[in-house]
Amino acid sequence: MTTAPPDADLLGPGAVENPYPLLAALREHDPVHWSERYRSWFLTRYDDVDAALRDPRFSSDRIAPYRRARLERDDADPAVRAAFGVLEDWMVFKDPPDHTRLRKLLSRAFTPRAVERVRPRVAELVEELLSEIAPRGHADLVGDFAYPLTASVVAELLGVPRADRDVFKDWSDAIAGLVFGGMGDPQRHSAGAAGMAELTAYLTELVARHEREPADDLLTALIQARDAGDTLTHDEVVSTGVLLLFAGHETTTNLIGNGLLALLRHPGVPATADGLVEEVLRYDGPAKTIARLMATDVEVRGRMLRRGDRVFLCPSAANRDPAVFDDPDRFDPGRATGRQLGFGVGLHYCLGAPLARLEGSVAIPAAVRRLQGMALADEPLRWHPVLLSRGLVRLPVTFRSL
Ligand code: HEM
Repeated sequence: MTTAPPDADLLGPGAVENPYPLLAALREHDPVHWSERYRSWFLTRYDDVDAALRDPRFSSDRIAPYRRARLERDDADPAVRAAFGVLEDWMVFKDPPDHTRLRKLLSRAFTPRAVERVRPRVAELVEELLSEIAPRGHADLVGDFAYPLTASVVAELLGVPRADRDVFKDWSDAIAGLVFGGMGDPQRHSAGAAGMAELTAYLTELVARHEREPADDLLTALIQARDAGDTLTHDEVVSTGVLLLFAGHETTTNLIGNGLLALLRHPGVPATADGLVEEVLRYDGPAKTIARLMATDVEVRGRMLRRGDRVFLCPSAANRDPAVFDDPDRFDPGRATGRQLGFGVGLHYCLGAPLARLEGSVAIPAAVRRLQGMALADEPLRWHPVLLSRGLVRLPVTFRSL
């Protein structure tokens, strides 16, 4: 493709499966693209995405304005209003000073030590899941492996009892509709709101239990997080718990799924290669776009982004910008990927990056080692049709049954 279509659609035919040709055309010919369809800007060049992520004029506070505009009307669904109330407490949707306070308190609880503590459990869970799968000769590595693994790890980290873990999948799927699907689809909103209500009720009860009986886990650390008179309110603890469960597991599932697919499509690349996870984050990372709302008018490359405009910053395009990465469409774990933007950059840089890296670097090579002769099953791959994230619905594979 040599030119960018005037109404490029990242969710159009072919683009959900492979967005990269369209992103390349935008990056080259229309790097500050206005989409009438999404009534939003799309920024695709590395320098622009990197600069915008570090620029406070590109605001993260995008839930409160939506709630004020759409959900405070009398006819708004109270469940949807309540769900957006929880999202509004997520640090990822806040600007300073609220963001600074929430991030500092969570960083106190979510330490490298807390991540290290789950390391042996990650390896154990990986082996448990692979032992169930290995005799079968075929599996869906998203549904049977990546999803249950990442859900268990984050639940374990927080201190959610084992017996309760299965229910998270449904709630988390519903919330994904709310966070990723959005775009004003009322059906997704009401399903998401129901999932959010159940998860919030569950966590409220769990927080109360942890208050009575403190344990050596992240939820207890969150309850106890204090900083010069600042503490997290009860609602903020619950809402941060929801954020961690959600952020910790949808994205990491996609890292593992996209990573295994990249290896299946590049049989010469060893799964044990140093730099594998970083290259997956660059080449086909889970964060397709990151949304911002303009806090003020800003001119970028001669185009005026107006206060209140929505902007999608595209790490998926920036990470393949030939101005920064040589031969960017080649999957090569040996390359220097230090500047990849798959975890964002700046104030909101992913707090879970060490945990995601740990899970990816244990799970991906273990699956390749245990499931010998792994190959893609003979059925078309389906990707989630959403703007914000890049992940497979299923990854069906076959292998020699042991
Ligand atoms: C490969 C997996 C992951 C990817 C690709 C990813 C990606 C991202 C990105 C792009 C952001 C920045 C969003 C923005 O600027 O608006 C972010 C923020 C965040 N992520 Fe992750 N993430 C992953 C895994 C995790 C895990 C495992 C956790 C926790 C258990 C986590 C927790 C968070 C939190 C709390 C934030 C908000 C930070 C803030 O607003 O200051 N993420 N993530």
